[in-house]
This record gives sequence, structure tokens and C-alpha cells, in this order.
Amino acid sequence: MPMSRTAAIRVISPDVSSRSASVPHGSPAAIAEISTGLLAERAYTSPKYLYDSLGSKLFEAICELPEYYPTRTEASIFERYGAEIAQAVGLGSTLIDLGAGNCAKAASLFPLLHPTQYVPVDISRDFLLEAVSRLQQRFPHIEMTPLGLDFSRSFHLPVSVRPGKRVFFYPGSSIGNFAPHEAIAFLRRMRANEQGDGGLLIGVDLIKDGAVLDAAYDDAIGVTASFNLNMLRHLNHLIGADFDVTQWQHRAFFNAEESRVEMHLEAREAVTVSWQGYERHFVRGERIHTEDSYKYTRRSFIDLLQEAGFAATRTWTDDAEWFAVLHARAIGD
Ligand code: AVJ
Repeated sequence: MPMSRTAAIRVISPDVSSRSASVPHGSPAAIAEISTGLLAERAYTSPKYLYDSLGSKLFEAICELPEYYPTRTEASIFERYGAEIAQAVGLGSTLIDLGAGNCAKAASLFPLLHPTQYVPVDISRDFLLEAVSRLQQRFPHIEMTPLGLDFSRSFHLPVSVRPGKRVFFYPGSSIGNFAPHEAIAFLRRMRANEQGDGGLLIGVDLIKDGAVLDAAYDDAIGVTASFNLNMLRHLNHLIGADFDVTQWQHRAFFNAEESRVEMHLEAREAVTVSWQGYERHFVRGERIHTEDSYKYTRRSFIDLLQEAGFAATRTWTDDAEWFAVLHARAIGD
């Protein structure tokens, strides 16, 4: 008897385009916020929606790209000036890591800062909890209090966060996602949650040659393009929209007048998107503005900190001055 050659394998073809008008999984507040942006004359979305579980992984991959200098440059500053940074920050703090992601940056500082408590905060909750469970095993003596929340919406710290020596850690130039006036408001909220004896350790990307900035946000192998396009899949999930990712393309460039890198998704053809009884038509070439990444000079950022009630105590940069790390303390009102 011949051996049966019929393999009992059935290939379930995935919906590659992610076109799936369906039930929304986002909160009513998220659905309202996203709908407002998509229906605006110039459509926009908040960059926080870049970070679902896949988006967080794609961002990790961006950090490995040769073109994406910020992560590497900031790490080299932490490495070179770790002792000075620890001296400025002080030991035994409650380290509040805003947008912690995989927690790798804070973890690299644990041996220098010896925090008593680590409070990583991230909108991508499952990704965060996974990272923290691994980290807790490496550092069993540090109390870890992960918070899966959107700190751009609510900044309420639970009572489990110790009141003294609160140090806000905001690395990677994430502050660049805010327009300057929003950044001031956000820093003021940190200032209000700090108890006077803590501080702020923040990484900021500096203004540089436009070609370097363009390449950092539009890399040769298209990881940043995937990161940007993945937002459409995430929006489909959150609001039950029917975005077809193949109808869109990544655009990113430095806007020198505004001192920011802009990311957009551009319609390759005429597109109609539907969700929750809403509909938006895009003509070919029309864009959804998905992210701003503001760039500062050392001076302009120190001024911004001051507007928010912080005084910079130290600034560290790399030799090319592409990136800066600043430590700041609260000043009186
Ligand atoms: C996480 C906001 C700092 O603006 O450089 C990277 C995000 N976007 N590539 C940045 C991002 C495209 C990143 N931040």
C-alpha cells in the first residue's frame, strides 16, 4: 500500500491587508479621540497609537538601525557619564520611568542609581508586564510597581508609589512628541507630582543636519515605514475601522521651520475609510499626520524646563552634540 501523500495541513490564509471593519476594542475615550483626529480637515492621530504590542517591537527594532542614532547616542552618554549622573540624581530614589517600554534603559542605570522603587509606566500594558517580570528576577531587591496607563491622559500616581525622592525618568527624547507648549504643561505635571526632593532625568534630541534627521526617520530597510503603517492595523483594532495598509505609504522629513521631524501616512490612491458609522474620504496623496518629533538646542530646552518650574543642574552630551541628557530639580513657583 502506498503511503498517503495527502498532508493534513490546511493553510488558513491571514487577512494580510488588515481590512476588517469590526467591533472596536478601544475605550470610548480612545474612540472619540481617534475619530476627532481622523475627521479633522488635516487628519491626524496621536503617536501613542503607534504602540500596540507589534508597534513596541518595531520600535525596539528601530533602535537597532544604523540610521537611528538617538538610542545609541543616549546610551553612550549614560555609559560615559554614569557616575556623574548618579551623583546628580542621588541614590535610593523612586524611579518613575515614563514610557518604559522594555525597561532596558532604566535597568542599565540600576547598578549606578540603586533605586529603592522602580515604577515603569507604559500604555502598552502587556508588553510592559512581560518586561517587568523578567527584570524583577534580575533585580529582586528593587520594589517594582508597573503601571499600564496612558500618562498623557491621566497622571494620577497610585498610593503604592512612594512619596519621597521621586525621580522622573523620561529618556529617548520622548518629550519630542509634544509641541513645546504641551511639553511645558506635561513637565509641570511631573513637577506637581514630585515632592520637592526628587528631580527629573531627561533625554533630548538636538537640532542637527537635516539629512541625518531624514534618514533616522526613513531608514533604508523600511522598519520605520512598517512602524508607521502598523498604526493602521492598531486603529482597525481600536475603533473597528477598515484601513487597508496596502493603500498607504510612509512619509517622514525634517521640518526646519517648526524644528521637528514629521511622520505621515500618505494615501497611494483614493481611499474611503469607515468605522462606527463614520466615514472619511482621502484623495490620492492626502496624509494622516501621525507623529511629530521636536528637536531642541541645549539652550532652548533649558529655557523650556525653566518655564515648567525646573532648573537644569547638569547637561551631558556626546562629542558631536547630537543628543543631550539633562538633570533638573524643581524650583519655586
Ligand atoms: C520614541 C518619540 C522618541 O521621535 O524619535 C522613532 C519615535 N518615531 N522613529 C522619536 C520614533 C519614528 C521616537 N520617540
